[in-house]
Amino acid sequence: MCGIVGYIGNKEAYPILINGLKRLEYRGYDSAGIAIYNGETAIYKCKGKVSDLEHYTSKKSLVGFVGMGHTRWATHGEPNDINAHPHQSMYGKFILIHNGIIENYSQLKKILEEKGYRFKGETDSEVLVNFIEYIYLQGKTTAEIAVRAALSKVIGAYGLVIMCSDEPEQLIAARKGSPLVIGVGDGEYFIASDATPIVEHTKSVIFLNDDDVAIIRKDELTLKTVKNDKIIQPTIHQLDLDVDEIEKNGFDHFMLKEIFEQPRAIHDTFRGRISLEKKEIHLGGLYNVLPRLVEAKRIIIVGCGTSWHAGLVGEYLFEELARIPVEVEYGSEFRYRNPVIYEDDIVIAISQSGETADTLAAIQLAKQKGALVLGICNVVGSSIPRETHAGVYTHAGPEIGVASTKAFTSQVTVLAMMAILLGKKRNVLSNERYEQLLTALANIPDKIEKILQNSEKVKHIASIYQNATNCLYLGRGYLYPVALEGALKLKEISYIHAEGYPAAEMKHGPIALIDENMPVVFIATQDKTYEKIISNIQEVRARKGTIIAVVSEGDTKIKEMAHHTFEIPHTEEELIPLLAVIPLQLLSYYIAVMRGCNVDQPRNLAKSVTVE
Ligand code: M6R
Repeated sequence: MCGIVGYIGNKEAYPILINGLKRLEYRGYDSAGIAIYNGETAIYKCKGKVSDLEHYTSKKSLVGFVGMGHTRWATHGEPNDINAHPHQSMYGKFILIHNGIIENYSQLKKILEEKGYRFKGETDSEVLVNFIEYIYLQGKTTAEIAVRAALSKVIGAYGLVIMCSDEPEQLIAARKGSPLVIGVGDGEYFIASDATPIVEHTKSVIFLNDDDVAIIRKDELTLKTVKNDKIIQPTIHQLDLDVDEIEKNGFDHFMLKEIFEQPRAIHDTFRGRISLEKKEIHLGGLYNVLPRLVEAKRIIIVGCGTSWHAGLVGEYLFEELARIPVEVEYGSEFRYRNPVIYEDDIVIAISQSGETADTLAAIQLAKQKGALVLGICNVVGSSIPRETHAGVYTHAGPEIGVASTKAFTSQVTVLAMMAILLGKKRNVLSNERYEQLLTALANIPDKIEKILQNSEKVKHIASIYQNATNCLYLGRGYLYPVALEGALKLKEISYIHAEGYPAAEMKHGPIALIDENMPVVFIATQDKTYEKIISNIQEVRARKGTIIAVVSEGDTKIKEMAHHTFEIPHTEEELIPLLAVIPLQLLSYYIAVMRGCNVDQPRNLAKSVTVE
């Protein structure tokens, strides 16, 4: 949600900032802006994408060695030139870029208005920059003191960078609830809301913690907290990220690249964690909490969007393989409905980005209630891994397309490893079953590869349904969450209304929608509900619905009933979601491309949702 980039050093800031914004654009893309200091500070900002900003600045002379840039996903105030960041305070002393939400901005605004401040736009960020200036001018103090004093009065979340016209050779960065990473170069520093714009310059980074304030000059970084003037020693981490991981590498879109990366991503998720030779699953991040996990009376899984769908697959896995009762909750609902959480509960938070605000809030609540909280995250060093007691990284590599693809399959891979491991430790699984599952998991990447080789067939089906206005996705058992995920993929990138249902629920309502204009995607592989789902297919056929079915290799029965089928290889029933979701991802992708949609940056969305 909004991208932040900053630079201070001996190089021209503009190319670093504009390229950084392009890398960050997946976080928000409704307006963009830049501020560069060169004797005085020039600010350019406009509605639209980073390319619009680049076009707007192309004829300007933007030289200078200190600057910052922002790409926005609007919360307060519509996307327009005025609400775009950077924001400058009324008397011109401060310039700010901000990610997050200042919850008490209306109170602060009222105070400022009474003091004569006037506002150009509607953002909470503009209030904050003026509040900082107000304190600064009142106290005749330093920029750092004014920023820290202002932030101590702020309620809400922020990741921000500030420039002060009286101290121009300095950037101030602060974080609370919205991530900021500082890249440490040779006589230079980079600031960003995630590591993607930094990695091409340096791999040495400092992850700011909540309440940290960094005062940064080109050859000096001082770290303090909002409330405490004492200097803290920063910890420098080395990024495990390469530039080509954040490039499209010949693919038309990041989403397509990420779909095709899934064999490798899943392999990386279980690499070093499962050993067929030793018949072992080793999840280092859970080592210390394993005894508590084995004794678990209940697991609560929290997540949002695709991660929530992965959690639903997790529910089936833990209940079936380890016989542990599971509840799956949306982070956003969990936090507000006074849930019953026991001290011996295990809460598993799933998140690709590790920054989703609703999931983070659910974690905090679960911790307050004394539960053991585990994370399954992709982004190393993000907030969720730092907020949880233990966890497992998915190691899927950066996911840049707004629609989650490899995140889902790598999350399900981790959940499968956990469930199989617990099933073994709790003596639910026989040795034979345990080994079958382990082998099947190890074979998943090759099977996905085989599905991907057939992507042209999905493309053909997409060409037939590209103009659909509605679509139903139906599945049962392990394939019900896959139906939900297929529908989410289609609606978010192609803007076709799509809904997922457990197939048997169709007759309780959605069947009313079925006519010759309603494509119905059945995910109907040969598992224990196969015969049942065939009855559901008949029901759709009888009402002239069009049937597209994902079926098991060699299926003949459904082929006779469906208008189009797509075969996937056989595997253990528990692991079918890992295969069945792939054609659905491809279907959405091709339909969206054929409809001329911006696949990687769908309208109104952003990659990580760091606000409520
Ligand atoms: O980063 P997270 O996994 O926590 O993100 C959760 C959702 O915002 C995310 O899955 C979203 O639904 C995607 N756009 C789905 O493709």
